[in-house]
Amino acid sequence: MVDFELTEEQSMIKQAAHDFADNELVAGAAERDEKEQFPREQIRQMAELGFMGMMVPTEHGGAGMDTVSYVLALEEISRADASAGVIMSVNNSLVCWGLEKFGSPSQKEKYLKPLASGKLLGAFCLSEPEAGSDAVNQRTSATREGNSYVLNGTKNFITNGANADVLLVMAATDKSKGARGVSAFIVDKAFPGVIISKKEHKLGIRSSDTAQITFDGCRVPEENRIGEEGFGFKFAMMTLDGGRIGIAAQAIGIARAALEASLKYVRERKAFDKLLYEFQAIQFKLAEMHTNIEAAHLLALNAALKKDRGERFTKEAAMAKLFASKVAVDNALEGIQIHGGYGYLKDFPVERYLRDAKITEIYEGTSEIQRLVIAREILDQK
Ligand code: CAA
Repeated sequence: MVDFELTEEQSMIKQAAHDFADNELVAGAAERDEKEQFPREQIRQMAELGFMGMMVPTEHGGAGMDTVSYVLALEEISRADASAGVIMSVNNSLVCWGLEKFGSPSQKEKYLKPLASGKLLGAFCLSEPEAGSDAVNQRTSATREGNSYVLNGTKNFITNGANADVLLVMAATDKSKGARGVSAFIVDKAFPGVIISKKEHKLGIRSSDTAQITFDGCRVPEENRIGEEGFGFKFAMMTLDGGRIGIAAQAIGIARAALEASLKYVRERKAFDKLLYEFQAIQFKLAEMHTNIEAAHLLALNAALKKDRGERFTKEAAMAKLFASKVAVDNALEGIQIHGGYGYLKDFPVERYLRDAKITEIYEGTSEIQRLVIAREILDQK
């Protein structure tokens, strides 16, 4: 049986993230959302707290914490501002983790250190206009020329895209080999041929940035390839396993925010001469929202614990993301319902929670892909 009692250090990290979120993130979240304003100063502060490279050892610029601590902190951050949550999640799970695990010593020195300490920001470039769920179908090509590769193609829906300094890019080095013909590269945003071709305007997580990036004859030195040629797809899949724990934590944060806003509202609002919380119909909604949060939280911690123990956690991460993202959407909807007409207005935060929640069912693998991953695992068809 898994022991979920937090260590003293984990409790301290959770508290630090909670306090930071309450003191520095909540107040401006609605305005940043409205203005699609990237939370640059807040991310700088999060870096100071060690939140941008939480699981990276201190000698490589990180905070040297475990995945459980990461889940706890990310929930707190996302509870206040889900946009800050995804920025943190991508830098930690999709960028720093893979560099730490598979990067060469010089890649760690040059790229991981500044990324994990938050001096630089990273992005993960897998999706393409015609490669979303079908991630093997990479059109971006990396053609070898002497000691370098020349990248051509377009990446879509790239979180942190426009603000990132460093991009981890998957590209086909040999299209005929399918998944085994994809390689991963570290691309410095300053390399000639990297073009931010479009900045997306989104339903939710509007203060995080999502961009389309085009590589037009972008020359990348061979030493920037991560692992062997052909390792890129596996690299991306393993990275996304960890990423899905992060998105589960983000979703739980949003679900908690919806419950907290509802708990506050039902203690203030009266109908038929009673406060709303006195109605059993409202109590049942609150009870269900709370129970689902706890269940999602336990699934996320379970996946994190498995990862920390070095065990395979593909299924557990997919289950956590599948369930937590549904809970986020359900809780946000119930939050709006509890608020009635006010829930539909920008005067209250619950409409933002719904807009922010929806993406957790889509990015880093849609809910349909999570079901596919889970089914393959339990049918032993992996
Ligand atoms: N760990 C290790 N290896 C894995 C793996 C995992 N979790 N999943 C697959 N692989 C390996 C397989 O073992 C196989 O290896 P071999 O060639 O050695 O046999 C290889 O990868 C190919 O795997 P599949 O045959 O399973 O490939 P598939 O075409 O059937 O696709 C998929 C599998 C699960 C559908 C996968 O394509 C997938 O996860 N798609 C969703 C992609 C996704 O999550 N995109 C999100 C984009 S990133 C994002 O949103 C970032 C952001 O900015 C927020």
